Amino acid sequence: MQEIIEKLDHLRNQARLGGGQARIDSQHARGKLTARERIDVLLDEGSFEELDMFVTHNCIDFGMADKRIAGDGVVTGHGTIFGRAVFVFSQDFTVFGGSLSEANATKICKIMDMALKVGAPVIGLNDSGGARIHEGVSSLAGYAEVFQRNVMASGVIPQISAIMGPCAGGAVYSPALTDFIAMVKDTSYMFVTGPDVVKTVTHEEVTAEDLGGAVTHATRSGVADFAFDNDMSMLKQLRRLMSFLPSNNTEKPPLVETHDPANRPDMTLDHLVPMDATKPYDMKELIEKVVDNNDFMEVQAGYAKNIIIGFGRMEGSTVGIVANQPLVLAGCLDINSAIKAARFVRFCDCFNIPIVTFVDVPGFLPGTQQELGGIIKHGAKLLFAYAECTVPKITVITRKAYGGAYDVMASKHLRGDLNYAWPNAEIAVMGPKGASEIIFRNEIKEADDPAAKLQEKTDEYTNKFANPFIAASKGFIDDVIMPHNTRYRVIRGLRLMKDKDLQNPWKKHANMPL
Ligand code: HXC
Repeated sequence: MQEIIEKLDHLRNQARLGGGQARIDSQHARGKLTARERIDVLLDEGSFEELDMFVTHNCIDFGMADKRIAGDGVVTGHGTIFGRAVFVFSQDFTVFGGSLSEANATKICKIMDMALKVGAPVIGLNDSGGARIHEGVSSLAGYAEVFQRNVMASGVIPQISAIMGPCAGGAVYSPALTDFIAMVKDTSYMFVTGPDVVKTVTHEEVTAEDLGGAVTHATRSGVADFAFDNDMSMLKQLRRLMSFLPSNNTEKPPLVETHDPANRPDMTLDHLVPMDATKPYDMKELIEKVVDNNDFMEVQAGYAKNIIIGFGRMEGSTVGIVANQPLVLAGCLDINSAIKAARFVRFCDCFNIPIVTFVDVPGFLPGTQQELGGIIKHGAKLLFAYAECTVPKITVITRKAYGGAYDVMASKHLRGDLNYAWPNAEIAVMGPKGASEIIFRNEIKEADDPAAKLQEKTDEYTNKFANPFIAASKGFIDDVIMPHNTRYRVIRGLRLMKDKDLQNPWKKHANMPL
């Protein structure tokens, strides 16, 4: 027995070395942790149980027959985060560049199947050169098996992708099918084809950073939801992200005890919105002041900044927050912000996370760029997502809610459960000046002093429509609330809606405007 135990120890130690000490050193020299070190930071201490440590590839071409490394470049298994089960795969760049072989894909598929069976999230730590080139179609088949499982698991268990090295080809498409993508600045890249291929095919010269670095994807393409400074901070923030999410679509998110009083007023909110309706203010201030302990985890913070999305807690329960940001493009909805928020609303709806929407929106962004880019179709995504979703929806209009954007932003008409407005809210078809220019055009043209007439009509329109009381008189707004009470009113709404049960008609799936 002693001999067998020693052999097992030897084999385990060999497997733990992956591609060898020199390659581990090179991984460290790049500021990256190894596949196993990453798992240790991500999971609760000592909770990881590895599976398939001794799996090797079965390729015999291109001299691969005698190049077999236990584990074959991916570490898989399960453990816990804050005591709740999660499944993890962590690609080992020191073994064939973390590339995906048939055997390697089978390992990943095994834990994905288990995760679905037990209803636990899957976190993929990706550091891979894509399909294992030596294996040809077998590795492509392996990827497709992973993709199929990604799709089947979508909306059933949360799937999180951490991009922690250069990821190309198939290594980016599996993450693209998951719920959130996080990248590490300066050491991670995502592209379908790298800079060399780009140069050969299109003669374009571009750096890896500009083509697929963390900043590029977190600010320009919108592919990445988060960009972190290094491996350590990413893994810690992924633990934080997981703390907001339920394990699967049949559960509610975990309750995190808080000492932050539900009825905590915040008098500074009464002065948040400037008197001048054209002046911006920072909507993030409101969000941070109403959630428990000011703890707000923003998603896609650097992309389409005219809308804010992210997670917070109210009375210890997770809420998804969607809010227009008056600081950027006056909070207008455009193509990117509509897509960003629509996807987030759908994620919350999949996973039983109530949505709190803060509205200050002057409308859709006008212009040829938007129209030719398909704002009609893309704006409809957000409308569709809000209309379809059945989780509790609490809406607070803090200032403007104009035109179609009023309808879109979780209005009463899209089954908003409780719709509130601050006393200074303006709910109308459009801004008073624009409205007056259209409906009083002739009167203004014929006036002795057209500018004075325009002002007079604008004031008239403002007095009539630019307030919340007409909407409130029709029941489209449930109540006009004081800004300082926003937290308490939202919490009371969430308490009321805790067991809301709303079903959409049966269908195979909807045909949302993609
Ligand atoms: C086999 C691979 C590999 C791969 C890297 N390696 N990628 N082995 N298959 N896909 C090996 C290298 O040969 C090398 O082995 C070791 O991993 C480290 O790679 P380096 O190139 O030395 O590292 P680095 O300079 O950091 O560059 C990393 C890289 C580059 C950017 C990922 O290796 C690269 O461009 N690889 C190819 C990417 C690619 O085109 N993949 C196929 C995508 S197609 P040695 O022994 O020399 O150290 C695809 C199809 C699926 O994925 C599509 C589904 C939709």
